[in-house]
Amino acid sequence: MTKERLIIFDTTLRDGEQSPGASMTKNEKVRIAKALEKMRVDVIEAGFAIASVGDFEAVRAVAEAVKESTVCSLARANVADIERAAEALRPAKTARIHTFIATSPIHMKYKLKMTPETVHEQAIKAVKLARQFTHDVEFSLEDASRSEFEFMCRIIESVIDAGANTINIPDTVGYGEPLEYGQMIGRLIQNIPNSDKAVFSVHCHNDLGLAVANSLSAVVNGARQVECTINGLGERAGNASLEEVVMAVKTRRDVFPVETGIDTTQIVPASRLVASVTGFPVQPNKAIVGANAFAHESGIHQDGVLKFRETYEIMRAEDVGWNTNKLVLGKHSGRAAVKARFEELGIEFANQDELNEAFTRFKALADKKHEIFDEDLQALVTDVQEAHIEDLYQLEFLEVTSKTDSTPKAKIALNVGGEIKQAEAEGSGPVDATYRAIEAIVSSDTNLQLYSVNAITSGTDSQGEVTVRLEKGGRIVNGLGADTDIVIASAKAYLNALNIILSKSVRAHPQVEGV
Ligand code: KIV
Ligand code: ZN
Repeated sequence: MTKERLIIFDTTLRDGEQSPGASMTKNEKVRIAKALEKMRVDVIEAGFAIASVGDFEAVRAVAEAVKESTVCSLARANVADIERAAEALRPAKTARIHTFIATSPIHMKYKLKMTPETVHEQAIKAVKLARQFTHDVEFSLEDASRSEFEFMCRIIESVIDAGANTINIPDTVGYGEPLEYGQMIGRLIQNIPNSDKAVFSVHCHNDLGLAVANSLSAVVNGARQVECTINGLGERAGNASLEEVVMAVKTRRDVFPVETGIDTTQIVPASRLVASVTGFPVQPNKAIVGANAFAHESGIHQDGVLKFRETYEIMRAEDVGWNTNKLVLGKHSGRAAVKARFEELGIEFANQDELNEAFTRFKALADKKHEIFDEDLQALVTDVQEAHIEDLYQLEFLEVTSKTDSTPKAKIALNVGGEIKQAEAEGSGPVDATYRAIEAIVSSDTNLQLYSVNAITSGTDSQGEVTVRLEKGGRIVNGLGADTDIVIASAKAYLNALNIILSKSVRAHPQVEGV
């Protein structure tokens, strides 16, 4: 039986980036977009072009780099947002403008301060304008799960007449419940006279842990696009996770009347890349991509799997890309092999100097660590591409002493805008001493919200990847640092976060009006 296609719309680079602290640079977004393209994601929402110059440039860079997937930008239902999105998407081979307005009584009254009639008119105008730039226009009714059914029917019928070809019904606040939400999608499709002229889409948040269940229930009731993110990243508790939606549809073919075009073997590599770039580690028991997702602890289970795999496994680890963590390179690998592996990972360098720098760092790492894995190369590229000369604080020197029965001490030298400054401090541990020494120079007035260390690969020679989350005046950023020495990785991560938080660029949030 041929099945209908379920369109996979990935919004890791837009809604995923709305997770506090998960902001990504242009280069990081391009790397993730290439991984999504390799996975054969149908639509990549690359960002919210009007949010900042950085967001605009990132959408544009993704539009330039991606050829196989449709590239999309978010835009509120107003002229400035739509024109900016169209401008950023200009280089795209296939471009989609995704425009939205809130339709729930609570959002219209308190956030938009608009009457339902004005919202209706603005939605139509926005879709008509977006259609002047591209034939592919998506319209979302923000907070749909708390909107009035009759009002949604009226707006949807009008925006389809105005040219929208995808209608997205978001559960913006994660309030939906699978049975009710799925039935609502089915009723909308049945009640709207021109519903056959558009694809119905869902976008579910995970506040009650129901995002995937709600999305799948909608699919059973006629939705043919699911919006989702790698690792379930996203605003607050996140969005429906791409890997769970895709693998549920694939594994339970008997239940779902659809199939996706996703190359599922790219799921684990993409998950690792997103975790490494954002500094949001994946919990070990996370479905599909968690380290324990295919590990059997109990003797009875192990015995069963050895006798016949399907006794306890419903999917094959290799089908979602486990075991693709190849040992790629080592100390004796030459420049051509390193360059070729970077290319296979979809990593491009802006110029020869950047490639040379990456190769020098590769050699230095290979001296300390014999086996270099793909994850090591990804972390190394993050370091090279994000080593901005305009960074105010750069690590010049660090010495830490840590002995039994004595207080750890750190001695540090930073290059602060060209001037070398030194400090010493004691702390409860080597990392604490290092951070106190940095603060003795910087006096940043930031609050440390999170410090976490993860081994990038297995083995005691693994690089430690440190994530530091800092807050200042309500702004939250993540800093990352990787090194085989975790104290140095910690210093790099702290300085990275400081450089970001003390830079001036501030992004607008798409769901706050009047930006
Ligand atoms: O959650 C939401 O409603 C959104 C829209 C902008 C689609 O992210
Ligand atoms: Zn959302």
